[in-house]
Order: sequence, then C-alpha cells, then structure tokens
Amino acid sequence: MRIPYIAGNWKMHKTASEAAAFARELRGQLDGAPHTVMLAPPFTALAAVSDVLKDSSILLGAQNMAAEESGAHTGEVSVLMLKELGVSVVILGHSERRHSYGETDTLINAKVKLALAHGLSAILCIGETLDEREADRVTEVVERQLEKGLAGVSQDALSRVVIAYEPVWAIGTGKTATPDDADSVHRVIRNKLADLYSKSAADAMVIQYGGSVKPDNVVGLMAKPNIDGALVGGASLKTELFVPIARFDRA
Ligand code: 13P
Repeated sequence: MRIPYIAGNWKMHKTASEAAAFARELRGQLDGAPHTVMLAPPFTALAAVSDVLKDSSILLGAQNMAAEESGAHTGEVSVLMLKELGVSVVILGHSERRHSYGETDTLINAKVKLALAHGLSAILCIGETLDEREADRVTEVVERQLEKGLAGVSQDALSRVVIAYEPVWAIGTGKTATPDDADSVHRVIRNKLADLYSKSAADAMVIQYGGSVKPDNVVGLMAKPNIDGALVGGASLKTELFVPIARFDRA
C-alpha cells in the first residue's frame, strides 16, 4: 500500500529564523500525522529547521544539490553537506531548475544517481509546459523525462525515488489540472515505470501531483487511484493552508 506523501517546497522564501519559527509551528500540528510529511526550506535554513524537526516524524528535504560530491563548484551545495544536516530527501529536476536555470535531463540524472548512491531519497520532478500540452506532447515529454532522469537507477534504488508530476502551466498560477487530467498523466507515468522496471515496482511507487494544490482541491486530487501525494509550493508557506493539506482525509 502506498502511503500518501505531502511535501512542502518553500522555494526561495523565509530566512533561517523565519523558517525555524514556521517549522516549530508545523511540528506542533503535524508531528505524528498519518501521512508522510516533508519540508524543504532553502539551503540557508536547513540547519535551523533540522534542529526543530529532530526526533519528529517530519522529513527534512533540500530543494536541489550539486551533481558532484565536492570540488571547484562555486555556489553549489554537495550531497555530503546536506546529509550532515539531517537531510533525507532531495527535490531534483524541479521545473524552475529546468526552465530558469537550464538543467537538462542528463544533469538531473547525475544528481538523482548521486543522491541515491549516498542513501538519500529523491523526488524527481517532471511535467510539460503549456506549449507542449497544447501540441499534444504530454506523454512524450513525461516519458522522456522519466526515462532519462532514471537512467542507470536500479530497481532496488528505485524504492527511494518519488516522482512528482508538476505541469509547468499549473505551478503558481492558480490553475490546477483537474483530478481526472492529472490522474491520466499519473497513469502514463506508472505504465512507463512498469515498462522500465516491473509492474510491482511501478505499483509500489509514490507519484505526487504538484501545481496550485490548496486545501479545497487536495481531497479531490488524492481521491484518484494514481495520485499518491502532493508537492506543494505557495500553500506550503502558511500554517493554515499547509496543515489541512498535509492532514487531508481520504474522500
Ligand atoms: P505551487 O503550489 O505554488 O503551484 O507550486 C508548486 C510547486 O512548484 C511545488 O514544487
């Protein structure tokens, strides 16, 4: 059985002190919640949030990491640095990294493999742009991002991968894919995972939806058979929005 997984991607919001105070509030309301819950603050707040989340059920995530362990990579953050701070999950291939910072499937794949080799879990983000959707290329795009993003990842390591389907046109726009639309892409993703690995591996995988998830649409999305959780941006920044999402009840 797949356990619902709700992750908050805080993006470039909150200083370390703001993040620690917010994480303390969330811990009070989400520690021991029935679903898996993860918080991904900015790099500069990881240490402070890690202290707050110590010995709780809430996972600490990072929003990105370098494709190398160490070296002359000005401005990058290494998997070793993340691990030492108690990070157990890293979000990779987010559409903002792909489209604003030019990350390719090849680079993202190198990061996925490095994270897994170091025992972290990875949330691999995939999703089409509006132009690609309008050109009827959704299946082709998500299948390519999956195949290239997971190249060289063993079936064993796959158990530490979560896929997040985030249609680019739904991110931060208030436009959510309908539950049926999202579920049909999630089905494409699960079928592709079955082709690449096995049906049992695909059936075990958590596939999150991301893109304008809010308290009033989470239940409808999570009711769909192939939607197993959410990667939440804007609504993860306020207790009164994130707590009801993270504690949603199955319809
Ligand atoms: P919004 O929830 O703000 O649309 O952001 C989604 C997202 O990009 C999460 O990674």
